[in-house]
Amino acid sequence: MESVQATKQRFGIIGNDPGLNRAIEKAIQVSPTDISVLITGESGVGKESIPKIIHSLSHRKHGKFIAVNCGAIPEGTIDSELFGHEKGAFTGATSTRSGYFEEADGGTIFLDEVGELPLTTQVRLLRVLENGEFIKVGSSKVQKTNVRIVAATNVQMFEAIKKNKFREDLYYRLSTVEISLPPLRERKGDIHLLFRKFASDFASKYKMPTIRLTDESIFLLEKYHWNGNIRQLRNVAEQISVLEENRNIVANTLRGYLPNMGGNLPAIIDDKEKESDFKNEREILYKVLFDMKSDLSDLKKLTLELMKSGNASDVQKDNEHLINKIYGDSPHETLLTEPDFPKPAQLSTPPESSKEEYLQIEATPYSEPPSDASQKDDKYHFAEEIEEEETLSLHDKELELIKKSLERHKNKRKAAAEELGISERTLYRKIKQFDL
Ligand SMILES: Nc1ncnc2c1ncn2[C@@H]1O[C@H](COP(=O)(O)OP(=O)(O)OP(=O)(O)O)[C@@H](O)[C@H]1O
Ligand SMILES: [Mg+2]
Repeated sequence: MESVQATKQRFGIIGNDPGLNRAIEKAIQVSPTDISVLITGESGVGKESIPKIIHSLSHRKHGKFIAVNCGAIPEGTIDSELFGHEKGAFTGATSTRSGYFEEADGGTIFLDEVGELPLTTQVRLLRVLENGEFIKVGSSKVQKTNVRIVAATNVQMFEAIKKNKFREDLYYRLSTVEISLPPLRERKGDIHLLFRKFASDFASKYKMPTIRLTDESIFLLEKYHWNGNIRQLRNVAEQISVLEENRNIVANTLRGYLPNMGGNLPAIIDDKEKESDFKNEREILYKVLFDMKSDLSDLKKLTLELMKSGNASDVQKDNEHLINKIYGDSPHETLLTEPDFPKPAQLSTPPESSKEEYLQIEATPYSEPPSDASQKDDKYHFAEEIEEEETLSLHDKELELIKKSLERHKNKRKAAAEELGISERTLYRKIKQFDL
């Protein structure tokens, strides 16, 4: 029997993870039999090489190997593709056609994304699995075929069964042996190995020096969640290989290529690490929320000022710091110095820009001009109350955030300010303000 190492070499499979080795070993073991095999695993884990291994190590190796992506064939034509059709079976069926099950007689059919098969096709497939029989679309003649079926899925089949989207009897028939490939995040030891292999492949492909990762980058690479598994890792290696001039890749550069770093939590294996990462993550989220709330509060303040004075340029002059804080470098001048910037009474007409939309949402209660002064005062009063409430809870959160950061950095203001994204001077002012 061919060894796992030799098989990996033959099929270009990289890695030494025990889960991967076990899957390959199982594929080698079942290959001489005609047992149906179901390969499971997340998207991009390398399921596609398993049926090839099974076929090429089996007595069917000189027969055909047909791979069918069940998810890519329209529901209306899949029966005809798989089982063939008779002339005149449907509009456009101008001649008799044989399907994959007939063509692969004596060989292997790989049904990729088998969970996507329509229920009617599942019935036909069950029949092939049970006694090798099938009927062409539009025919009544039963035909026989001798095909080995290997299927793969990246969806939870039990979920599909529960939702009546997949027949339970077919599932058990298909999965006489199940080979499951572990996700990349569970093959920590292989991640850097795979990356180096891909980096070296892309370096030769694009005729550039090979990119190298710093220790910190390797750590980040191994900690990342890799939802797209090896496919995603290869894409990242390719992008970096093409785009980065500096071939020494530091963690910050790498981070830019790893989307949803926030989705990393489940990737961490050891519980302690998980806990501390969760805490950090929560605090980052907390800070983002805090920043958003603070911006919103500033916007409200601006809106109120605008409504009170009705003079945009005065408000802009008095609140330059707030405007800069909210809009940063974006061209906010146009928003506030626009000569016909809507006055409170005009705000009910739909504004064009999204920033103006913000103002409209906040200003909706005031869209009708107040009939008398006291009513107007009431409305302003109400708005100010809300604002005050939010400012209070904001203060609490800000206080907590600053306290935590100072604790974490053993009262070193510089480090805490850096983490909080504010200047040391602002932090000093806050410490005084909150009496910390
Ligand atoms: N161990 C590995 N060594 C080298 N390349 C690998 C390995 N595993 C996967 N790959 C490569 O990663 C890519 C994705 O693998 P594959 O297409 O087999 O994923 P899959 O499990 O079929 O995913 P999907 O469910 O999305 O179809 C392929 O280009 C494959 O060659
Ligand atoms: Mg696939």
